[in-house]
Amino acid sequence: MSESVAEKIDVKHFYLRRIHSLLGVFPVSIFLVEHMIANAFILKGPEAYNGVINLLRSLPYLIPIEITFIGLPIFLHAVYGIYICYTSSLNLKSYGYAKNWFYFLQRVSGLIALAFIAYHIWDFRIASEVFHFEVNYEAVRRSMRVPWIFSFYVVGLVATMFHFANGLWLFCITWGITIGKKSQRISGIIFSVIGFALFAMALQSIIVVRG
Ligand code: HEM
Repeated sequence: MSESVAEKIDVKHFYLRRIHSLLGVFPVSIFLVEHMIANAFILKGPEAYNGVINLLRSLPYLIPIEITFIGLPIFLHAVYGIYICYTSSLNLKSYGYAKNWFYFLQRVSGLIALAFIAYHIWDFRIASEVFHFEVNYEAVRRSMRVPWIFSFYVVGLVATMFHFANGLWLFCITWGITIGKKSQRISGIIFSVIGFALFAMALQSIIVVRG
């Protein structure tokens, strides 16, 4: 392969990686936070929660909004994420250092999050359209009372929140926001707190809804 072709491929992957990184935050991470806040209305009871669902469902241009700002970005981030996993060198012998473990866990958590998100979107968004049933407090309660679904949600949430928090930490490095060791340590603490808080919120919602 001539050098110029190899360089062109490198440049292409550089830009694809940057797009992948941007999509992970805008809009995927932002949507994740919004989604957890909306779900926390479970704590205020069935009426409040159903009110939020109905409000979101009544948005004009709902389907184009969902596809443009949620579905497509997650899909593109996931597709390139799988490609990154596939092309990563996972040499387990060199996993002595925390950084290498985080590198490995970022990929594994992305794959678990993908399985979880796919199931979640099917269960609470697509299946309800196909089989014409309503998703509300009662429907979520029924799902969360099934032991294997609840366990799958706990595992899926752990993976998603880890991926989100470590992803934000990586994002700051990728874009040169945190350059030195000290700023990376501080951002590590901040994103760990945010990740744990969001996980605690999500866990509380699925525990409370079980009743
Ligand atoms: C809730 C869903 C998701 C969120 C909030 C999210 C967020 C992020 C963020 C913020 C990053 C850091 C970008 C950077 O390195 O600059 C990232 C990286 C990554 N994501 Fe996701 N992501 C999600 C789902 C997925 C899925 C489903 C996959 C599929 C495998 C995936 C695979 C990856 C991979 C492999 C990286 C590492 C990139 C690298 O180290 O260079 N992500 N994600």
